[in-house]
Amino acid sequence: MKIFVTGGTGHVGESVLRLLSEAGHDSRVLTRNPEFVRGRVGSIPRVYPALGDITTSSVEVLAGLMAKMEAVIHIVGIIIEKGTAGFEAVHTEGTRRIVEAAKRARVKRFVHMSALGAREGAAARYHRTKFAAEEIVRESGLDWTIFRPSIIYGERDEFLNTFAGIARLPLPLPIIGSGKGKLQPIWVEDVAHCFVKSIETEETVGQTYELGGDKAYSIKEIMRLLVRSMGKRRPFVHLPVPIARFQAKLFDLLPGKPPFTADQVTMLGEDNVCDPAPLKEAFGLTLRSMENYLQERFGG
Ligand SMILES: NC(=O)c1ccc[n+]([C@@H]2O[C@H](COP(=O)([O-])OP(=O)(O)OC[C@H]3O[C@@H](n4cnc5c(N)ncnc54)[C@H](OP(=O)(O)O)[C@@H]3O)[C@@H](O)[C@H]2O)c1
Repeated sequence: MKIFVTGGTGHVGESVLRLLSEAGHDSRVLTRNPEFVRGRVGSIPRVYPALGDITTSSVEVLAGLMAKMEAVIHIVGIIIEKGTAGFEAVHTEGTRRIVEAAKRARVKRFVHMSALGAREGAAARYHRTKFAAEEIVRESGLDWTIFRPSIIYGERDEFLNTFAGIARLPLPLPIIGSGKGKLQPIWVEDVAHCFVKSIETEETVGQTYELGGDKAYSIKEIMRLLVRSMGKRRPFVHLPVPIARFQAKLFDLLPGKPPFTADQVTMLGEDNVCDPAPLKEAFGLTLRSMENYLQERFGG
């Protein structure tokens, strides 16, 4: 198939593109980066760039880029807002444009990346705008499938890699709040497998799938396992939530990428877990164990 992919240059998108390529599909990848072809994603066979921005390119231009495509995989999302590229602009309005463009280009199949915890009235704006985007997709009249993953780990993640970077320093490990909030980390290749299978499977049309790994862990447990896999021992230092929120507001005023945002502090206070059984059944998946991954990637 010929597939239009947004977010293909990112952590998850790269794995999706590799699996699409291995399965014999051609991907046209939307990117804001003209240097794309020199990057690692640009060297994947059957992957072709298309320059554009979901917040500023017109629907006409986006529809033109989708000409002759048979499916859209829409992965773009942000965790840190920057200037005019806020959650509403990227998640909600960006999805509206991509959906409109797909309709104009007569591309019926639409696979959409959301996030576990996306719901109306969620405390975090990330989750609220992801839910608003889901609603646009559900009401589009397209043949849609929606995926809602918990946190995703893999070679390029900013989650385990950041913690590992901190754990290499001879310092205590900082934890926001109690560290008891649970996550269900899922391997990036397992997520990519679901995306690729979904475009090949009619039964996934009209379905919303929650994606989580084989086991839920508290953030503190994940950090403990990570540090142990690195053969280290580190004490924890707990940063009270009100102080973390205050710090996040200060980071917001400074240039550069903040270590964490107020929205992330909010999300860390919630469990982000699901039952993986429907996912395993629908996609024939054997989910990778995070503990094995930690050993392989960070061990000895
Ligand atoms: N990572 C996780 O743990 C996790 C968990 C749940 C859900 N998700 C969702 O999964 C998706 C991918 O996450 P990720 O970690 O792979 O993200 P990522 O590595 O930060 O990649 C973001 C991608 O979005 C593209 N992008 C950003 N703004 C854009 C814009 N205005 N126009 C066009 N493209 C734009 C970037 O492309 P260029 O820079 O090339 O333009 C890049 O390919 C997001 O929707 C995220 O919310 C992620």
